[in-house]
Amino acid sequence: MKMELSNRLNGIGEYYFSKKLTEIGELNKSGETVINLGIGSPDLPPHPSVVETLAKEAAKSNVHAYQNYKGAESLRNAFAEWYKKWYGVELNPANEILPLIGSKEGIMHICMTYLNEGDEALIPNPGYPTYRSAVQLAGGKCVEYELKEENDWLIDFEKLQKRDLGKVKLMWVNYPQMPTGKLPTKELFENIVAFGKRNNILVCHDNPYSFILNDKPESLLSVEGAKDVVIELNSLSKSHNMAGWRVGVLCAGKERVDEVLRFKSNMDSGMFLPAQLAAAKALTLDKDWYDEVNKVYKARRQKAYELLNLLGCSYSKEQAGMFLWARIPAKYKDSYELSDDVLYKSRVFITPGGIFGSAGEKFLRVSLCSPEEKFELSIDRIKKNVK
Ligand SMILES: Cc1ncc(COP(=O)(O)O)c(C=O)c1O
Repeated sequence: MKMELSNRLNGIGEYYFSKKLTEIGELNKSGETVINLGIGSPDLPPHPSVVETLAKEAAKSNVHAYQNYKGAESLRNAFAEWYKKWYGVELNPANEILPLIGSKEGIMHICMTYLNEGDEALIPNPGYPTYRSAVQLAGGKCVEYELKEENDWLIDFEKLQKRDLGKVKLMWVNYPQMPTGKLPTKELFENIVAFGKRNNILVCHDNPYSFILNDKPESLLSVEGAKDVVIELNSLSKSHNMAGWRVGVLCAGKERVDEVLRFKSNMDSGMFLPAQLAAAKALTLDKDWYDEVNKVYKARRQKAYELLNLLGCSYSKEQAGMFLWARIPAKYKDSYELSDDVLYKSRVFITPGGIFGSAGEKFLRVSLCSPEEKFELSIDRIKKNVK
């Protein structure tokens, strides 16, 4: 049977990685197995106490029912304490915190809550592709703001302010930035909040990388008066090696939380309670946990530098998050050409920066979510093919 698809899927393709993984699967049927340095899914486990909490709680008979739409009180309390301890931000656990089934779904919820047909949303180029698809699926129109290497990947507010912002309702921002690894500065955060206030734009800050290769996690909500114009999304996927668990959070003023809940409570029926209790446990972990995780990423990053040097790429060593972003040598037309060259000749997959937007076309993104041995093997393979 041929089915006509909804108009909202116009221009929305299968997620790039989903297609690429199928191709890699095909390649793996003959010859050496492809080493995937593309996807940012942490390969390390959560802290043992988190897994123990899940197992202990799941064995109880009274934890299997539907859960509160607003999330378990203990998880909301744990997020509030975590925000206070690490970001210095006070949030009321009763009404300023909304646990999510991953922050990716939160991106969709926000777009569905606020965007009408024709409303515009500012999205970063390069940036996480989900901002674009969520805006489009909700009927909104994406307006890109370009981040440039020569501007140190910061937002050019002067340029942005000169544009017609009349239809702009939302702005997506994300620092530490994916894919560029750019860390936020105090000034940048203050400028973002001021821009939102001045133009009556709801700023949505996506903040899943603040603990990775970064000693000083920052929240946009720490800027004075931010709660008036900011919604912040956070996640345990990267900071606690819990990507498959699907635990994130939305933090904002009460009004915003209530508004998003109006949409979200019609979409899902809460999260498995033992997972929420285990997530609450994860949020109590102390500095040792983050130090351990970062020790591993630091060692891998050294290997990734080596690999990028072999490919003739250039990069900043000031990056945060679980990726390295690097400029490709001029001899390649674009990042797809280099990525495919490495994939077909050396059987190593590295993400072409072009999938994050046109401004990423001359860049590659290497994921640090593989053990050092995989980097060493990748380096050996690539060495054989470098002329
Ligand atoms: C910038 C950014 N935001 C959000 C997410 C989604 O994270 P989660 O696992 O919480 O849905 C990712 C995951 O890759 C990401 O890179």
